[in-house]
Amino acid sequence: MLHEHRLFLREYARHFHTTGSLVPSSRWLAAALASYVVPGQQPLRIVEVGPGTGAVTRALARRLGPHDQLDLVELNPRFAEHLRECLTRDPVLRPIADRTRVIQAAVQELPQDRQYHLVISGLPLNNFAAELVEQLLNSLAGLLRPGGTLSFFQYVAIRKLRALAGGRADRARLRAIGMLLQRTLQAHEVRRDLVLRNLPPAWVHHLRFD
Ligand SMILES: C[S@@+](CC[C@H](N)C(=O)[O-])C[C@H]1O[C@@H](n2cnc3c(N)ncnc32)[C@H](O)[C@@H]1O
Repeated sequence: MLHEHRLFLREYARHFHTTGSLVPSSRWLAAALASYVVPGQQPLRIVEVGPGTGAVTRALARRLGPHDQLDLVELNPRFAEHLRECLTRDPVLRPIADRTRVIQAAVQELPQDRQYHLVISGLPLNNFAAELVEQLLNSLAGLLRPGGTLSFFQYVAIRKLRALAGGRADRARLRAIGMLLQRTLQAHEVRRDLVLRNLPPAWVHHLRFD
């Protein structure tokens, strides 16, 4: 765990833009993100986007059924390598290694083939240009099968706090992201969970697009 925190911090220093936080998600945030993974009549295809060091992946692993399949799409090659290693030796991840693929790629470069029942995203949307956020949301929605669910989180009040500290251009960027997310949530949100036991506290949003 200490090793993972160190890796996370190092990658934050190297790529703070795409890493987006100083520490991995708490187990409570991970559980909220994984809450739509429930055993059903048919096997689930799940993709986690931005798994980082695997904090949420472990919550998914604990809920994964014997015929479910999990893809992990991670941009950062060091995180991708770490996840591949964990799948060989981590006591929680090793049992799902035969049903899990690590895909080192940017999610927006994946084919939009609507193959997943669940898309779980850890992307730090507030760090990106508003145009990229729109592209990312479209990409995440484009991975979902009809009736599928997208779950993602954002830290509570983070845009307001960052706008206080940022310059004029950053405030405009954050305002544009806020409006885009508000429109998207108004149209598609089916549930939201407040997770206080995380640093910082976070909202988990669950969305359906049809
Ligand atoms: C805030 S971290 C979340 C890590 C982990 N899910 C957690 O909650 O602890 C964001 C992760 O998204 C990855 N990432 C950023 N942009 C990405 C993209 N376009 N496609 C795939 N992964 C991306 C980063 O490398 C990083 O691992």
